[in-house]
Amino acid sequence: DWTMGNFLMEEIVKIRQTVGNKKAICALSGGVDSSVAAVLVHNAIGDNLTCIFVDNGLLRKGEREQVEKTFRDNFHIPLIVVDARERFLNALKGITDPEQKRKIIGNLFIEVFEEEAKKLKDVEFLVQGTLYPDVIESVSVKGPSAVIKTHHNVGGLPERMNLKLIEPLRELFKDEVRELGKELGLPDEIIYRQPFPGPGLAIRVIGEVTQESLDILREADAIVLEEIKKAGLYKDLWQSFAVLLPIHTVGVMGDYRTYEKVIAVRAVESSDGMTADWARLPYDLLDTIMRRIINEVKGVNRVVYDISSKPPATIEWE
Ligand code: XMP
Repeated sequence: DWTMGNFLMEEIVKIRQTVGNKKAICALSGGVDSSVAAVLVHNAIGDNLTCIFVDNGLLRKGEREQVEKTFRDNFHIPLIVVDARERFLNALKGITDPEQKRKIIGNLFIEVFEEEAKKLKDVEFLVQGTLYPDVIESVSVKGPSAVIKTHHNVGGLPERMNLKLIEPLRELFKDEVRELGKELGLPDEIIYRQPFPGPGLAIRVIGEVTQESLDILREADAIVLEEIKKAGLYKDLWQSFAVLLPIHTVGVMGDYRTYEKVIAVRAVESSDGMTADWARLPYDLLDTIMRRIINEVKGVNRVVYDISSKPPATIEWE
């Protein structure tokens, strides 16, 4: 009988046989796939697994802390947190083109990860949370015209570093990974987390990415997520987030004119991210989000709601 419990036991045995007493590393992103893969492999080989989490400064509010709490404190998995915030910010200085941002972030991630991995001795395996749909997608032939956005991934890493891949989730679909995550005792916040792009907040700050713009966006985004969760809609939405626009508009505060930034709120329903429809959020919820952002986030005097579907728009703005 195929059950999740049996699958888990068989995988653990297989990984133990493959890795033996050798060492493995895993790039944790905080998302469900890499989290489940890491905990599963840790169950199999214990502290011969080290996880690396790169804080690129493009994360959402509280994300790094949540990863530290879950993996280091709760699961006792050896975890290296690399503070690379300055490096990413410097690399992005003056860059406004979306594809350029994506490439810079993807390459720098690999560079940082590789540096950190090389400090560990005798590593032979790299754990990746590749799912079945990812396996299919990478096999299918895509012409250059199909490249709409360069997705952030660590594709070339295993060869570059001469590591063997361990992909314990490569036969599973997303809902099965969630079930497996539950079986392994991962918290709901990770299991049901909405997708978050590799380039992070950098592709949600339209125009140049600066410390100030990231701080504004991070605060606004936290409010969007908090209110969506409070309204009980988080799990029903494919994604919900804030975007910071590179323009100023005129407003009024008391007797004074203001000239400040604009936040766009994006919330979509989708089953796979390939197509999406904007979520018909209750007006009162949008109203609460607007009020809180304008009152609590310094430098913002206007909030708009994105009512574009995909296609012709995409989910992310860059
Ligand atoms: P778009 O914006 O193309 O996004 O409609 C479709 C889905 O993919 C996510 N996305 C990414 N995920 N690395 C990722 O891991 C990336 O570089 C990336 N870019 C977009 C996006 O959040 C949405 O869920």
